[in-house]
Amino acid sequence: MALRTLPGTTDRRVDKLLTLLADNAMIVVSGGKIAREIGVARSTVWRWTQRLRELGVKVKSHPRTGYQIERVPDVLMPNMLRQRLANTPFRKRIYHFFKIDSTNNLALHLGHEGEPHGAVVIAEEQTAGRGRVGRSWHSEKSSGIYLTVLLRPKISPVQAPIMTLVAGLAARDAVAEQTGYQADLRWPNDLLLDGKKFCGILTEMHAEPDHVHFVIVGIGINVNHTRMPEELARIATSLRIESGRSHSRLELLVRLLRCLDSYYNRFLAEGAAPILTRFAEVSSYARGKRVRISTATETYVGTTAGLEPNGLLRVERDDGRMEVVTSGDVAEAS
Ligand code: BTN
Repeated sequence: MALRTLPGTTDRRVDKLLTLLADNAMIVVSGGKIAREIGVARSTVWRWTQRLRELGVKVKSHPRTGYQIERVPDVLMPNMLRQRLANTPFRKRIYHFFKIDSTNNLALHLGHEGEPHGAVVIAEEQTAGRGRVGRSWHSEKSSGIYLTVLLRPKISPVQAPIMTLVAGLAARDAVAEQTGYQADLRWPNDLLLDGKKFCGILTEMHAEPDHVHFVIVGIGINVNHTRMPEELARIATSLRIESGRSHSRLELLVRLLRCLDSYYNRFLAEGAAPILTRFAEVSSYARGKRVRISTATETYVGTTAGLEPNGLLRVERDDGRMEVVTSGDVAEAS
């Protein structure tokens, strides 16, 4: 199935332009040569370099001689990603947007349209990023990773919560590889540094009672935000705020997709056991944590008591009753 041209996707020639400039980093490339190679007018090259600058790409214009990129840009363009995603199912169908409402919305649509396993939707900015339990996801331009992958695992819907844990573990490993930070995982899949959230995952699926048609895994990571909006600052952070330096989103995204591929294959080959074991090793929320659970119908306090075989969280209420949390919000209780 050919890669679709969707309304709003980044023109593939912009991708070519960036690759051309990046491959010739530090060299001045003439506007005429660029225009010929990517098949557009010189005025379009000028317009697109302006667009790239808005995303923080440092492109110098030299009057009469041409364009020069000052350093390898941190834009999540398909070409740049593809080169680094060999041997994964994610390299073939990458849809990039400068701006979109929500990468999950588009991935859901693609899933229903029959898009194959492994499609990836990436945006530099979301205008209506969605979070769990009806919340929104703050998606500042070019600061974070806003990604959704479409998967078609041959599993039953009861195993779907494991997919959520798979994604959380993959994000945790990717961040650890790149920054050395060992993030905590708050069930089911929030990543925390010093108790503040910097990564959230929204898994959605289309299924029959006995069969999953597709799962979409939407991942948002606050990478280079220099500050969080006031209403979030108490509970949310970014890798940059924590470390005091910026991080390559491109490298982090590549690691994330590679880790996701590896945990996903492990789950399909060996089942849930290694995923549950790993989650229990790295999450302070898996067992013995005082938590407040808020569901659509009630709020209660208890202590976490491990995971069910299908990945759901067990919580022992203070009166001794055991609950299995299927959805809702988990917060640390004092
Ligand atoms: C949460 O913690 O509440 C989940 C947040 C998930 C945010 C990501 S950003 C990319 C993808 N597109 C969306 O609209 N949401 C997810």
